[in-house]
Amino acid sequence: MTTSTQTIAVLDFGSQYTQVIARRIRECSVYSRVFNYNVKASELRKANVCGIILSGGPASVLGKEAIFPDKEIFKMGVPVLGICYGLQVMGKLLGGKVAKSSQREYGSGKLTFKATGALLKGLKSPQRVWNSHGDRLEKMPAGFKAIAQTDNSKYAVIEDAKRRFYGMQFHPEVAHTPKGKKIIENFLYGVCKCKGDWKMSTYAEQLIHDIRQQVGKKKVILGLSGGVDSSVVAALVHKAIGKQLTCVFVDNGLMRLNERKQVEKIFRSHFKMNLKCVNATQRFLKALKGVTDPERKRKIIGRVFVRVFEDAVKNAGQADYLAQGTIYPDVIESAANPAKPAAVIKSHHNVGGLPKDMKFKLLEPIRELFKDEVRVLGEELGLPHDMLWRHPFPGPGLGVRVAGEITAERLNILRKADDILNQEMVKSGWYAKVWQSFCVFVPVRTVGVMGDERTYDWVIAIRIVNSVDAMTADWSDIPHKVLARISNRIINEVKGVNRVVLDISSKPPATIEWE
Ligand code: XMP
Repeated sequence: MTTSTQTIAVLDFGSQYTQVIARRIRECSVYSRVFNYNVKASELRKANVCGIILSGGPASVLGKEAIFPDKEIFKMGVPVLGICYGLQVMGKLLGGKVAKSSQREYGSGKLTFKATGALLKGLKSPQRVWNSHGDRLEKMPAGFKAIAQTDNSKYAVIEDAKRRFYGMQFHPEVAHTPKGKKIIENFLYGVCKCKGDWKMSTYAEQLIHDIRQQVGKKKVILGLSGGVDSSVVAALVHKAIGKQLTCVFVDNGLMRLNERKQVEKIFRSHFKMNLKCVNATQRFLKALKGVTDPERKRKIIGRVFVRVFEDAVKNAGQADYLAQGTIYPDVIESAANPAKPAAVIKSHHNVGGLPKDMKFKLLEPIRELFKDEVRVLGEELGLPHDMLWRHPFPGPGLGVRVAGEITAERLNILRKADDILNQEMVKSGWYAKVWQSFCVFVPVRTVGVMGDERTYDWVIAIRIVNSVDAMTADWSDIPHKVLARISNRIINEVKGVNRVVLDISSKPPATIEWE
């Protein structure tokens, strides 16, 4: 953001919801950034902060592990809202009393209003809210008024309207608090007087500015997979530093039909990027020859990838930074350790683990964003809609969709069948309605009859699932007409296939992929 952009600072005390708070605020067209819990007030002033939110966290303000913000933040003259642990921190620092509650308050609760307050404006009592706490505020600091209570918390919502300090014991940012968004809006617009003029395009400008600042004249390398995240980072970094960026695309021979061509068309022809495409098909197939065990296949694919990528990077010349499409859900939170709040995170290596002797500084410009925000950013940067909204594709590619041994012939059959499925899903409008749809090569020959000839050919399985986060999934109920067309086309158009079957297993106990 430019320094004049109104920013709501979310101070991270280690809650698993910290980024969700920031995201909810961005959904309200206000820019929000996560800072470490102990960020100095002077730094927040520089960032043009117009409101501060203290997140929840796993610690207890009563324990040895308690963590506190810079006390100066309460003297900045900007509104402060404490959520859960954030409320307790504020209560304790400003002279109130926090104590262990005799019983934990966890899950859905009833919030009853006792007075009118800025945060609950426009809402009716009672409200359903979501709690997760063991301690509670037992005495408010001077100047505060109790606005609402739950069964277990007399001070579930408090405010000091004069100093513009607010607190709530429950979590407004989670979906289980149905009117949470309204409460956040009340804070942003009613209390902080935000203008609500933030857009993804301004965010893109800021990211580009930040990348230029960070990288200077140095060179950056990026492992481009053609997936959403690495593609968006490629477009973003290229916009920032142009030819200082080199993208490396490794064709492992396990890609979908025409994947390499598409990547070349978009990134080399359209964006005019430095793009190195490495055709490593033979290297992968050789390493995978005769291997049938799924875990061994995955390990080999990962290992060969690292070697090929390493060679390609060496050939591309010296680079100082490695750009990665790490996004927020990739980030591993260390919520169990309050000394390391969620912002101190372990990087997820999209390139599958880097060799030890490759010393790069990491550039991870979209690490604060959720997947759908990344897609919107990609649209801003001019990436094709189809590329941004395609289904997830596993790192080992078709390697985990050819069950058993991987051969060039099997991959070719699968690619053709998969392309047909894809076309028909798009044409029927079902592609956008499901989480994933793909084909699996089943290494079984069955008897068939084509014309008057007996055939003895392979089986293709169709897998189409609905899911929210891939942790659980259910098979999609696709109209028979669409399935019939897919099956008919695959059997007629793909040589070597005489049978198509539909996978109707849910996850668990099955997984989405077959291997
Ligand atoms: P499973 O098969 O475990 O897959 O139900 C869950 C989701 O993860 C994707 N998947 C992967 N993604 N690297 C990835 O980036 C992988 O090795 C990998 N394996 C599975 C799968 O497509 C599904 O969306």
